[in-house]
Amino acid sequence: MIRIESVTKRYPDGTVAVDRLSLEIPDRSITVLVGPSGCGKTTTLRMINRMVEPSEGTILLDGQDIQRQPVTTLRRSMGYVIQNAGLFQHRTIVDNIATVPRMLGWGRQKARARAAELMERVGLDAALAKRYPYQLSGGQQQRVGVARALAADPPVLLMDEPFSAVDPVVRKGLQDELLRIQDELGKTIVFVTHDIDEAIKLGTMVAVLRTGGHLAQYAPPAELLAGPADAFVEDFLGGDRGIRRLSFFPSGALELTAGPVIPLDATAEQIAAPDAPFLLVTDADGRPLGWSEPGDLAAGDIRPDRLLSHGRPFVPGTDSLRVALDCAVLSPTGWAVAVDTDGKVTGVVSQQTIGEAIRSAHAAGRAHDEVAG
Ligand SMILES: Nc1ncnc2c1ncn2[C@@H]1O[C@H](COP(=O)(O)OP(=O)(O)OP(=O)(O)O)[C@@H](O)[C@H]1O
Ligand SMILES: [Mg+2]
Repeated sequence: MIRIESVTKRYPDGTVAVDRLSLEIPDRSITVLVGPSGCGKTTTLRMINRMVEPSEGTILLDGQDIQRQPVTTLRRSMGYVIQNAGLFQHRTIVDNIATVPRMLGWGRQKARARAAELMERVGLDAALAKRYPYQLSGGQQQRVGVARALAADPPVLLMDEPFSAVDPVVRKGLQDELLRIQDELGKTIVFVTHDIDEAIKLGTMVAVLRTGGHLAQYAPPAELLAGPADAFVEDFLGGDRGIRRLSFFPSGALELTAGPVIPLDATAEQIAAPDAPFLLVTDADGRPLGWSEPGDLAAGDIRPDRLLSHGRPFVPGTDSLRVALDCAVLSPTGWAVAVDTDGKVTGVVSQQTIGEAIRSAHAAGRAHDEVAG
């Protein structure tokens, strides 16, 4: 575990970048430092690997004061990834990734084998190994940066806005990749960003800093969204935190109804039976085709060309209440379509039922807070 104990950084010109910051960074999880520009995120991160020395306070790594360790030993245990990857432009991708192992005295072959293994792990095509950084896209370069930081298998990864220079789609891919890597490798990751959505998506714990290097709040993302400590944190979280909090509630307990679901070859009897305002029509495999108004189904004739779009379905248990609600909001009928992992319809659920589930999830959350607090 990394423990930051009452650390202050005063730069020579008198700027207080970090002010009496205390944080416990748990092992094998992602801790995100988030806050506006200039609030001391980079300074904090660099104090952890001693690229910046604190003016006051102590940082402990597994109980040991990092000041008492040789810098080289310390840095070897910490990979470092920065914005734009910071690759060596005159070295090939494979040699970039193999840099630290080579420095540690590994043979060329072993270091390159390790680099190849890491390229696969971070989702880089082996064909890119011989290229130079300028021949890669920004997103690919960031992946190389992550692979390079992982090369010597350090227990700690320090990441300073690693994904902020790439477009939103590539960025989402890199975030998903990082979560997968974290899951597989169990690294202790300290991740800096100024993007609160990125913080909420990636963080096991999120530290919100404010200008002057003050800690405003340190909590798991769901807790942050449920109870911002003050107006600054609330403002920083943005206007729709209630909706975003729904990402942390599972949809598995939603009560689905199969009544309004009918196959395309349904009999007139089947069609006449349900008293729902709309019917969801499925194909022979049970996959959704679209919504039909009962009026259109008169005489047992379902016209596939007249169906309304069923929108995006959700997978109960896998998707959150936020996704389920979104499906219902986007649906022309106000009902969300639930499917299993094969895409077969398991039922439908109304906005009203989802609303009830949200209220009971909130009530359960409050009860949990009362027990815990
Ligand atoms: N070497 C330095 N000398 C003097 N002041 C510095 C130095 N490095 C950073 N600062 C100041 O310390 C404060 C915190 O800087 P830091 O880089 O840690 O912020 P940050 O949160 O990473 O910001 P950003 O989101 O813009 O990257 C800022 O006011 C900055 O101007
Ligand atoms: Mg910074």
